[in-house]
Amino acid sequence: MGWVQNRRDHGGVIFVDLRDIEGLTQVVFNPQVNKDAHAIADQLRSEFCIGVRGKVGMRPEGMRNDKLKTGAVEVLVTHFEIFNTSQTPPFEIEDSITTNEMVRLEYRFLDLRRPIAKAPLLLRSRMTKVIREYLDGLNFFDLETPFLTKSTPEGARDYLVPSRLYAGEAYALPQSPQLFKQLFMVAGFERYYQIVRCFRDEDLRADRQPEFTQLDLEMSFVTQEDIFRIMEGLWKRVWQEFKQIDISTPFRRMPYREAVEKYGSDKPDLRLSWELKTVTDIFARSDFKVFRDAYEKKLLVQALRVPEGEKLSRKDLDDLTPIGKEFGAKGIAWVKLNDPKDHEKGWQSPIAKFLSAEEKDALIAATGSKSGDVLVFCADTKKIVADSLGNIRLHLGRKLQALREDEWQFLWIVDFPLFQWDPKENRWVSEHHPFTAPKVEFAETFAEDPGSAYGDCYDLVLNGMEMGSGSIRIHRNDMQKKVFKVLGLKEEEIETKFGFLMNALSFGAPPHGGVAFGVDRFAMLLAGGESLRDVIAYPKTQRGQCPMTKAPSKIDLKQWTELHLKPLV
Ligand code: AMO
Ligand code: AMP
Repeated sequence: MGWVQNRRDHGGVIFVDLRDIEGLTQVVFNPQVNKDAHAIADQLRSEFCIGVRGKVGMRPEGMRNDKLKTGAVEVLVTHFEIFNTSQTPPFEIEDSITTNEMVRLEYRFLDLRRPIAKAPLLLRSRMTKVIREYLDGLNFFDLETPFLTKSTPEGARDYLVPSRLYAGEAYALPQSPQLFKQLFMVAGFERYYQIVRCFRDEDLRADRQPEFTQLDLEMSFVTQEDIFRIMEGLWKRVWQEFKQIDISTPFRRMPYREAVEKYGSDKPDLRLSWELKTVTDIFARSDFKVFRDAYEKKLLVQALRVPEGEKLSRKDLDDLTPIGKEFGAKGIAWVKLNDPKDHEKGWQSPIAKFLSAEEKDALIAATGSKSGDVLVFCADTKKIVADSLGNIRLHLGRKLQALREDEWQFLWIVDFPLFQWDPKENRWVSEHHPFTAPKVEFAETFAEDPGSAYGDCYDLVLNGMEMGSGSIRIHRNDMQKKVFKVLGLKEEEIETKFGFLMNALSFGAPPHGGVAFGVDRFAMLLAGGESLRDVIAYPKTQRGQCPMTKAPSKIDLKQWTELHLKPLV
């Protein structure tokens, strides 16, 4: 049973490549075997769905196709049936097509007939099977949580489902099962996991979808070390299975602050060794006003050494400024070091004339630069310098093919600040989420001095992508209340938004912690995909639409009215 990949009429004998889930098989319609079948086979066209019965035989000598797994055999058809005809497909059902993605997604059911499109989904199916087996072996329970629920803040906008029965009220689709999994711990399950859909109404990128899948876990009576050990074992197992690679454990760990300072990112791609160096102090008395100002205003000047940057053209270097500007930088400066010791002719740069011999020597010492390198500079606030140089680091790393593509650089980022000041909202916000426990050293002081407290939370990064995130949770009502207060929540707000949690925490809630991983992201990296859409059967576009069903779509006035709503357009 399967689909007609193609039909070839070789004067008298008709050959059809029949495709099913496992691949292609050649079937032969010979009028001497079955005259009627041969006559009907003449009508076969691409993508007709058919069934054949016949004898499997060796292909004649010289007719074998070594490129095909079944290339040595063929089926001599004795009986055959056409289950359904097919229109001419809008694109060929072949691996190598150049059809626009919108068209492929509109006809996703045909797109997925292509083995190359099917493969990532089959891999994903095997991956979740391995995950379930591993967790099952460690006594985790697979427990479900509601989709129609109350919003839990994970930093994005909620998708809302207005209630028909309660005018003016709405459910929120969960951004994650965060509070429900914590309540499972209060209920005494001890080890929970779920492979679960999450919903976030945020701006989409290649590694973000409005609905995506988490491998969500929670455990009672654990430390960060326990969680790391169990999770490292999981990904080690998955890599053995899918890559036949023994990734080494424990994974490397890096404090958040170090990641940002050295790599300009809280998810550094360690397949690239290049580091940023802080050089602010070198310019304390500089003639180059931009850098001296930065020193005086207690801002930051950082330099990125680009080994073998000599391969970059003047245009490549000038093109860095718009990248910096995208992240708020006022400018990006660069130096091409033809010969670092020749302070005059060896330093090719629009800013070279402002730099003294001492400053030049100090820069070489600080960055370890050699002839042929390029130095890229940014002077600004910590955040702008990190974002600009961090992104330029990756941009140039890719351009110069300096990323070691065959590596899997797993990395835990640890020691995150508990809070961050949000200048727009003029208040403290949680760096992770409001249920994260402060590190014990800060348990008594975080309320008075939120800016100095660290949280017991961590991210898992792989090759520059955030793969997972988790924390040890607050399990005491009084501490949770203190955190909410730092975040600026009033007593009534705590009650209306989180009353159920506060209640649960006052009934012997156990110490607990957990983590959630992006299943789509893991599947994408394992499948070697470029976009999450490759590993999601029916994905949304960058604009949050489904080209196949055309969702979101207009709804009837009657439907609006039932929900006590009226569309404004
Ligand atoms: P967080 O919000 O960091 O943590 O999400 C966990 C992981 O989910 C993946 N992810 C996404 N994948 C695709 N598209 C998206 N829009 C998207 N958003 C997130 C990422 C991310 O690391 N409740 C906490 C976890 C916990 O504390 O246990 C949470 O949801 O890989
Ligand atoms: P300007 O004074 O704007 O002509 O800039 C002189 C040089 O310094 C140019 O090469 C700019 O790209 C660079 N530059 C300006 N501002 C910054 C900054 N904040 N960080 C790094 N380089 C800068």
